[in-house]
Amino acid sequence: MQKLGSKVIYQIYPKSFFDSNGDGIGDLRGIIQKIDYLKQLNVDMIWFNPFFVSPQKDNGYDIADYKRIDPRFGTMADFEELVAKLKEINVGVMLDMVLNHCSTEHEWFQKALAGDKKYQKFFYLRKGKDGQLPNNWQSKFGGPAWEKFGDSDYYYLHLYAPSQADLDWHNPEVRKELAGVVNFWRAKGVHGFRFDVINVTGKDELLADSTDPIEEKHLYTDTPVVQDYLKELNRNSFGQDEDSVTVGEMSSTTIANSIAYTKPEDHELSMVFTFHHLKTDYKDGEKWTKAPFDFMSLKQILLGWQEEIAQGGGWQALFWNNHDQPWALNRFGDTGKYRVKSAQMLGMAMQLMRGTPFIYMGEELGMIDPDYHSMDDYVDIEAKNAYKMLLDKGYQADEAFAIVHSKARDNSRVPMHWDDSKYAGFSTVTPWLLPTDQDRINVKKELSEGHIFSFYQDLIKLRKSEALIQDGMIKGLLKDDPQIFAYERTLNGQRLLVLCNFYAKSRQLDLPASWVGQTGRVLLANDACAWTEVPTRAEIAPYEAICFKAE
Ligand code: NOJ
Ligand code: CA
Repeated sequence: MQKLGSKVIYQIYPKSFFDSNGDGIGDLRGIIQKIDYLKQLNVDMIWFNPFFVSPQKDNGYDIADYKRIDPRFGTMADFEELVAKLKEINVGVMLDMVLNHCSTEHEWFQKALAGDKKYQKFFYLRKGKDGQLPNNWQSKFGGPAWEKFGDSDYYYLHLYAPSQADLDWHNPEVRKELAGVVNFWRAKGVHGFRFDVINVTGKDELLADSTDPIEEKHLYTDTPVVQDYLKELNRNSFGQDEDSVTVGEMSSTTIANSIAYTKPEDHELSMVFTFHHLKTDYKDGEKWTKAPFDFMSLKQILLGWQEEIAQGGGWQALFWNNHDQPWALNRFGDTGKYRVKSAQMLGMAMQLMRGTPFIYMGEELGMIDPDYHSMDDYVDIEAKNAYKMLLDKGYQADEAFAIVHSKARDNSRVPMHWDDSKYAGFSTVTPWLLPTDQDRINVKKELSEGHIFSFYQDLIKLRKSEALIQDGMIKGLLKDDPQIFAYERTLNGQRLLVLCNFYAKSRQLDLPASWVGQTGRVLLANDACAWTEVPTRAEIAPYEAICFKAE
């Protein structure tokens, strides 16, 4: 069994990390060239978003060949060299397994289209009903979840883009092929796997109509059979490696399911990504809206999940950012005067909780959403569809644009800022997506005079040196405080207190009675706090973050 609490994982979106051959697209050799940078953070593993052969209709989440590297990212030899070079610095590789669906350009789909019965059973092919689609399910990227299957009477199911056909996991042949994909990469020395939208693989076989969007989700999300599939996949692939690390992407799953998927004795996954905390700036549960975040609900979700999952023996991935989310600094921090302090504060609030932290490339620089002014600047299919949908709903163009600006996935897909040059040192030519804030935020500047990267280094060092952070239980504190996010970690009589101010104004408050008078020291802080004893009452400065250990 892996000691998951001692690990920190870094996420690289290969298309945007570093372009080594001047075509505007990041690539594997670009990552190899930046290994010294990665080494300085001292992370344990890198999760790479997909770089497999793909028509890129959904930026690589539409895979046409699971066992080949897309030439725009490099070759298999580049990949092998990357794995070897990372191994030299003790960094493992986590690959993105997009096994719920494949591209319609995949050989399986093409054979199915050509009439091969075996491969037709790989997909959900259904006849229309009375001139209508097979059911009323909606694609998560907008529009119906069904598309005509060639010129037959059939339709195929796609929960995502029409170019991403859902694979029918009920078919054991499909599951066997997919375990084979995982094993192919294991044989290349890969021990980490991130499973894309893995909890929608057990669709209700009847594929019945739904009465509303919530019920619809229940018809294809977290059905009990998903756990059987995961146990089987574990047994037949990654579970055979002592040191495997796996994470299932489960956007809207429940606490009980998260525990069930990750309890070590059940041999399913190491941990899950859930996104409830990243929906606290949705208005009425709707993503394509613009609203300030709801601090009380953010706090209640993060800490409530932490406590219950710890008690149930499950494990969580801890993260603010990824390639599907606008930057956390724009949402929960400050992009102006307090950019540095709020980035440090968010880093501490997240990383000292119980679980395995994931850091998304650029987060350690305090990157922010790009300053785009036109829909032409965006590339993502989801953003383009959302803009149209908002106009159809009656929004004015400027309102629709403002929403897309704050919610688009392209926000975090912007190329990594290496320096302040025209293309941010990412490429010598116009990149596939334009950087806008590199004059203020870039690696060169951050490493020479910044304070976020070094704070992240300290956070990682702290996790690796404190068993309390790795294994301790967690309890939320000051639950009713409207500004302060606080928790304690405990292990064998040791205690750690974390206090974070989520606002640009200072806060006077009474400290938790169970901590008042406790002596010890501050392990890390982003302000001048030097307590040797926890006071009864204190003033916590704007975006201040304090980690205090009782001694
Ligand atoms: C989740 C991925 O993170 C996202 O980028 C992708 O569009 C969907 N799954 C579909 O694969
Ligand atoms: Ca390139």
